[in-house]
Amino acid sequence: MAIIIRSEIPEDFDIIDRIHDEAFGHDWESKLIRALRTEAGYDPTLSLVAELDGMVIGHILFSRITVESPAGSHPALILAPLAVFKEYRSMKAGTLLVSEGIRIAKERGETMMLVYGHRFYERFGFTMAHEKGIFRPNPMKGEFVRLLELTEGAANGVMGVIKYPVSFKPLIEQWY
Ligand SMILES: CC(C)(COP(=O)(O)OP(=O)(O)OC[C@H]1O[C@@H](n2cnc3c(N)ncnc32)[C@H](O)[C@@H]1OP(=O)(O)O)[C@@H](O)C(=O)NCCC(=O)NCCS
Repeated sequence: MAIIIRSEIPEDFDIIDRIHDEAFGHDWESKLIRALRTEAGYDPTLSLVAELDGMVIGHILFSRITVESPAGSHPALILAPLAVFKEYRSMKAGTLLVSEGIRIAKERGETMMLVYGHRFYERFGFTMAHEKGIFRPNPMKGEFVRLLELTEGAANGVMGVIKYPVSFKPLIEQWY
């Protein structure tokens, strides 16, 4: 049975919560997603689900952010959160969700994608953002931000700090 990637619909909202609550062991990510859905800039076509045999098994969200530097404000997308139900891991749902997000972003002319994440993201070409001078707002937390340039050299000269939609505020102290 093939895994299908599609945009979320309201009927998916509860299972999306459950996927993230199970994966992360708390409800911070599902609360973040619900809060982001109420913000003006929310784009449901950047909230993707992985469906297997009619069941939603994974979810990824991309939100619009900026990197603020003395030279100006640089648009980017942040990938957060991503999760797949434990029972359905290592079936490539995670890879398909990230790959489809990258494809859509490129198609729309986006230039940079950021993620707080582990080595899983290296397979897509993400590298450490701080090496390009892009930093998280909370420097005390160390640097885990990874960057994917969607167009060649997109981050050249973009040196600054990530600015998030307001819904990220509760998570910024903790993670971001
Ligand atoms: C990360 C996650 C979304 C991957 O989903 P998935 O559907 O299993 O992904 P895929 O099947 O495409 O890929 C699985 C690969 O990811 C690797 N992987 C999973 N978590 C990883 C981690 N923390 N660090 C490095 N690699 C990781 C697996 O080892 C596996 O490797 P393989 O391809 O060599 O076998 C899933 O493990 C998950 O939900 N994890 C908990 C939530 C999480 O960490 N989200 C990302 C936060 S930044």
